[in-house]
Amino acid sequence: MSSEANVARAGLEGIVAAQSRISDVNGMEGWLIYCGYDIHDLADHATFEEVIYLLWNGRLPNREELAQLKQRLSTETSLPAGIHQLIASIPKDANPMEMLRTVVSALALYDPDGGDMSTEANLRKAIRLTAKFSTIVTTFQRVRNGLEPVEPRPDLSIAANFLYTLRDEVPDEIATRTMDVALVLHADHELNASTFAARVTAATLSDMYSAIVSAIGTLKGPLHGGANEGVIKNLLEIGTVENVEAWTMQALAQKKKIMGFGHRVYHTEDPRATHLREMSRQLGERTGEKKWYEMSVKMEEVMMREKKLNSNVDFYSASTYYALGIPTDLFTPIFACSRISGWTAHVLEQYANNRLIRPRAEYVGPRDLKYKPIDQR
Ligand code: COA
Repeated sequence: MSSEANVARAGLEGIVAAQSRISDVNGMEGWLIYCGYDIHDLADHATFEEVIYLLWNGRLPNREELAQLKQRLSTETSLPAGIHQLIASIPKDANPMEMLRTVVSALALYDPDGGDMSTEANLRKAIRLTAKFSTIVTTFQRVRNGLEPVEPRPDLSIAANFLYTLRDEVPDEIATRTMDVALVLHADHELNASTFAARVTAATLSDMYSAIVSAIGTLKGPLHGGANEGVIKNLLEIGTVENVEAWTMQALAQKKKIMGFGHRVYHTEDPRATHLREMSRQLGERTGEKKWYEMSVKMEEVMMREKKLNSNVDFYSASTYYALGIPTDLFTPIFACSRISGWTAHVLEQYANNRLIRPRAEYVGPRDLKYKPIDQR
């Protein structure tokens, strides 16, 4: 590295690495906007399909535009026969995020737009990817349990279809709205790690599927989207509200990172957590099993008292999905089913004004070594 280059803090903390019109986070005040709209407003009023349109177009759709988008999405929810065969051939005990990464990579081979990199073709690819993600996840869930896949219904939203194709049963209004709000809340989050990975790949002018495969692999990690599975694993291990305090104190004493807490950008309440906490509470009351919510509240208290750390988006999404009866290893794939909308929006934005993303490394290794023949080492 030459001496005039700037050295970023570890993890690129605080570095602004791209300009974007898609979303903005204020970590001190705890707000998040998508294309100018406050996340609280969207969580209270918008559907996931409206948010998809917003992220791709920078504005909310009118009635006709929304109907058109829904229609286009609904014609793309099915999977090609070759993809069904691929899913059937994947080991039943495979990690669903690894399955998703593999299947999305293979899906590129079936895209009718092939290597067409025009804006129109890329928008069609974004529609296909966004429509098919849920079908891939629920198809795998059914197939690994020896059940026939369920074809998505064109009259159902993405949220309702996720639950419908999971169980072959049309979900009720509360379950559908809970799922829809969860999808709205996870749709985009500025330059988070997986979105950055997608943009880095897109910036080489590689195809959209390659960018999305990079993003899926990045989301999978426990420091990012994988945290929601870590949260439920912890809650199941703890088992009772009474055990939360001792378990958490012991984990902190062992210097463990507790999943669902802390954030690189937020130093106050994550605005998404506000909604997920309330949904977790309401679902707990509805199912009569309040203990997952109550355990979560207790752990939040201990973490605030001991470490001054707030919960993040992954914390209450865990008890929310659990209360909806969703298998725990599908929690991170659900995150992906939502974030695909933001990833594709960022890839489209990157292509529209592209420059290769290629930072430098600060070399801290030795210099001036001389090669030694192998028998002298
Ligand atoms: N549990 C316990 N301590 C935590 C913690 C957690 N979840 N998150 C952060 N900390 C502590 C660190 O130990 C560190 O303390 P120290 O200064 O005494 O060493 C301090 O807070 C700063 O943490 P750091 O790991 O440097 O922050 P980061 O910005 O690099 O990491 C996360 C951010 C999100 C990766 C981190 O908070 C984390 O690992 N959280 C758990 C995983 C998670 O929920 N991820 C989803 C994010 S949406």
